[in-house]
Amino acid sequence: MKNLDINKYILDIDVMDKHHKDFIEIFINLDFKNDETLMKDINSIILQTITHFSDEEELMEKYLYPRVTEHKEEHDKILYELKYFYNKANNPFGKKLLKSFCKERLPQWFEDHIISMDSDLAQVIKNKKME
Ligand SMILES: [Fe+2]
Ligand SMILES: [Fe+2]
Repeated sequence: MKNLDINKYILDIDVMDKHHKDFIEIFINLDFKNDETLMKDINSIILQTITHFSDEEELMEKYLYPRVTEHKEEHDKILYELKYFYNKANNPFGKKLLKSFCKERLPQWFEDHIISMDSDLAQVIKNKKME
């Protein structure tokens, strides 16, 4: 499983850094051996992610971010997957799929997304602030 370290993902845009920190905080404490707390914590990740994405999308509007369509599509896609696997986890096979999604795909997506799209958004915001 991927080791997420917040210090690797600082973008110097407070609201974004805060959401990324909050995500990592919940994520690194997931207990894959306890199904009950796991479902509760993944539900918290879903709720946290909804706010995280909507705050970023607000920044996109505010700073007239040019790649808003692509960026929003990436958000929608991972949130759809996350909810999909969460909702299918009402039997042992579904739980297995959810766990492997959370161990592999989700942290990898998180890292790739920050390095590519979120850092691009952060750069646009910084440039606009300097104008
Ligand atoms: Fe983000
Ligand atoms: Fe994003």
